[in-house]
Amino acid sequence: MASSTCYFAGLSLLCWLLASSSTASAQLSPNFYVTTCPHLENIVHFTMAHVIRQDHRMGASMLRLFFHDCFVNGCDASVLLDDTPTLQGEKNAYPNQNSLRGFEVIDRIKTSVEARCPNTVSCADILALAARDAVKLLGGPTWTVPLGRRDTTTASMSAANANLPPPTANLSSLISLFASKNLTARDMTALSGAHTVGLARCSSFRTRIYNEPNIDASFAAVQKSACPVVGGDDNLVVLDMSTPIRFDNGYFKNLMARQGLLHSDQELFNGGSQDAWVRLYARSNHAFAQDFIVAMVNMGNIAPLTGSSGEIRRNCRFVN
Ligand code: HEM
Ligand SMILES: *[C@@H]1O[C@H](CO)[C@@H](O)[C@H](O)[C@H]1NC(C)=O
Ligand SMILES: *[C@@H]1O[C@H](CO)[C@@H](O)[C@H](O)[C@H]1NC(C)=O
Repeated sequence: MASSTCYFAGLSLLCWLLASSSTASAQLSPNFYVTTCPHLENIVHFTMAHVIRQDHRMGASMLRLFFHDCFVNGCDASVLLDDTPTLQGEKNAYPNQNSLRGFEVIDRIKTSVEARCPNTVSCADILALAARDAVKLLGGPTWTVPLGRRDTTTASMSAANANLPPPTANLSSLISLFASKNLTARDMTALSGAHTVGLARCSSFRTRIYNEPNIDASFAAVQKSACPVVGGDDNLVVLDMSTPIRFDNGYFKNLMARQGLLHSDQELFNGGSQDAWVRLYARSNHAFAQDFIVAMVNMGNIAPLTGSSGEIRRNCRFVN
């Protein structure tokens, strides 16, 4: 990997980590569209900046969309496919329904990209770039995105239900789920720091705030006022009460104060193997940023379609 891909001058360790992080990365390249779509990154960034100015949450939603794409048979834009009479998409899988958002933002970017470089750029790569830009625009770090993914012609509702972690997951199942995607426990903990932005529905955390002992009492009281015992399933609450729209290490400070919103969040700091990483990230925003970048690149390398596999979709919602 060229040294020009290292945005942070002097962080040679980071550059080395990025260059050596994953076996699959060899297939993807940051320069993939340099001659075929030189303005790609500007187009994505322009649209993302515009959208996030109007709705900060959309940054969080794009980041989550990328995660939910990559964990279901790889980063292949399967999550973007609509249901049709001949194809069952993933949008109504349990972890996605009434919860995933941002599809129209991808459509908007895709339309602009097609106008400049028709039939060239995959929806899977647009998603990877949009997630990267979202983090930066919310005040987080930035990095170079390896590109060259292609789009799948299939989707799997059952894989979406099986491979996306539920908020009730315990530490050992989180670790093994991420391990099945070749991501380490450290990657998993750093990636969970994405919950420094965005919102969750009452139904995702009710059991925790009413029943669990490892929760700060005043935090639980605030959450209960937004999330009643019965009803209000879709009431929304910020995942990081300290700095809700800023991409920083506030999430890890919350965990140390027993103010994790989801059960799965607090599992990372509950006397187990990830406590030390949580402490480090809570202490050092820089350490968090570095590990988050490495983990995002690793996640983006999950089983990409490359070469002549898959296709370049014309419309991200439908196979060609
Ligand atoms: C470690 C396992 C994870 C679990 C169990 C989990 C679970 C959840 C749940 C339940 C929600 C709220 C959904 C709702 O109530 O509508 C959520 C939101 C979110 N998740 Fe995760 N997540 C995990 C990892 C990740 C990762 C790896 C990322 C990205 C790198 C991520 C990014 C987000 C974002 C940004 C939101 C807010 C989305 C919005 O406001 O639209 N999560 N997650
Ligand atoms: C974690 O959850 C899995 C799946 O629900 C379960 O089989 C396992 O026993 C749990 N592990 C612990 C340590 O509670
Ligand atoms: C994980 O790595 C192994 C060995 O390199 C590979 O066979 C497998 O396909 C990878 N799994 C994913 C989900 O990328």
